[in-house]
Amino acid sequence: MKISALDLKKQIAPIRQELDAAVKEVIDNASFILGAGVEKFEQHIVEYSGAKYAIGVSNGTDAISLGLLALGIKPGDGVVCPAFTYYATAGAAANIGARPVFADIDEDTYNISLTSIEKVLAKKSKLKIKAIIPVHLYGACADMDEILRLARKYKIKVLEDTAQAFGAEYKGAKAGTLGDCGAVSFYPGKNLGAFGDAGLILTNNKTLAEKLKILRNQGNKDKYYHSVLGRNNRMDTIQAVVLDIKLKYLDFWNRSRQEVARYYNNNLSGWNIKLPVVPDGSTHIYHQYVLRSSLSNKLFMNYLQKKGIDSRVFYPVPLHLQKCFKYLGYKAGDFVQAEQAAKQTFTLPVYPELTVEQRDYIIKTVKEFMHGQ
Ligand SMILES: Cc1ncc(COP(=O)(O)O)c(C=O)c1O
Repeated sequence: MKISALDLKKQIAPIRQELDAAVKEVIDNASFILGAGVEKFEQHIVEYSGAKYAIGVSNGTDAISLGLLALGIKPGDGVVCPAFTYYATAGAAANIGARPVFADIDEDTYNISLTSIEKVLAKKSKLKIKAIIPVHLYGACADMDEILRLARKYKIKVLEDTAQAFGAEYKGAKAGTLGDCGAVSFYPGKNLGAFGDAGLILTNNKTLAEKLKILRNQGNKDKYYHSVLGRNNRMDTIQAVVLDIKLKYLDFWNRSRQEVARYYNNNLSGWNIKLPVVPDGSTHIYHQYVLRSSLSNKLFMNYLQKKGIDSRVFYPVPLHLQKCFKYLGYKAGDFVQAEQAAKQTFTLPVYPELTVEQRDYIIKTVKEFMHGQ
């Protein structure tokens, strides 16, 4: 049996007519960047998320860079990032000249570790740490109460990397609405995915929202009058109308992912394999369903792939050991949990369209591998 990591064709099929009509309207209007379609989508995101402002941008990476710029992060400023996340979290900071300062992750949730953050912030150094980017990895929230407490204590800004967790909740509030701002990615494979690149910034701060609107659009408030050095990070109208339709289904899709995760959990508990942990105070929307085994994740993944199941390793190399961050001077052994997670974790396909037959085949195959060990 062949089971892909994601099946977007199946997701799109039942809403195809709605999507076609919306895209046709954009083409008929021949207005392709920002405009009414983007404004309507931003308004619906405000209503959905409870954030006061939503600013549609070009992608999730740009959402992080723009958010940091709007928060006043300057070249040379330190920005705390988890050592175990997708490259873009730290890449977006480094690309505006900031210096990523890595912290380890929690062994159970894979989110940034509070002890490690405190250690980094308390360290006396010439580097001025100005912000932290907690990542809500795989769809579950980082410990925001404690992170916000530390941010207040050390007077630093908080940008939530909500790329993988749009729709998840932390103590009743939507992920991305708790810090100074939240960056969202609508990369096609995300729980809410566009038909290309797109992203968004959430904030409750009016001044920040106004800055972001200027920064995303070449630094101009009035056309051809550039008050600040902005960037071209605008959202496409076609992406906005597609996302606006898909937004209506997001909670249903997220609940279906939770149901698949529950099915796996019920069938795999007691199999000497670590199941995903839902952190205290958070919901989990299972952007990824991640298992951990003391056996090599690559062996596990290869076995599943040989059996037709598209398992993945997210992520095989923690950021402090990536070649592009060599200049930061970290070495193997600096972040033990991040390094262990990179060796032991792998995914099972998790999406609403997975049939019971497919789920059962995946479970059977995982057990088969464990039997053989
Ligand atoms: C944790 C994390 N941060 C940032 C990004 C960047 O988003 P994008 O691909 O939309 O630039 C992604 C997704 O790709 C991500 O998973």
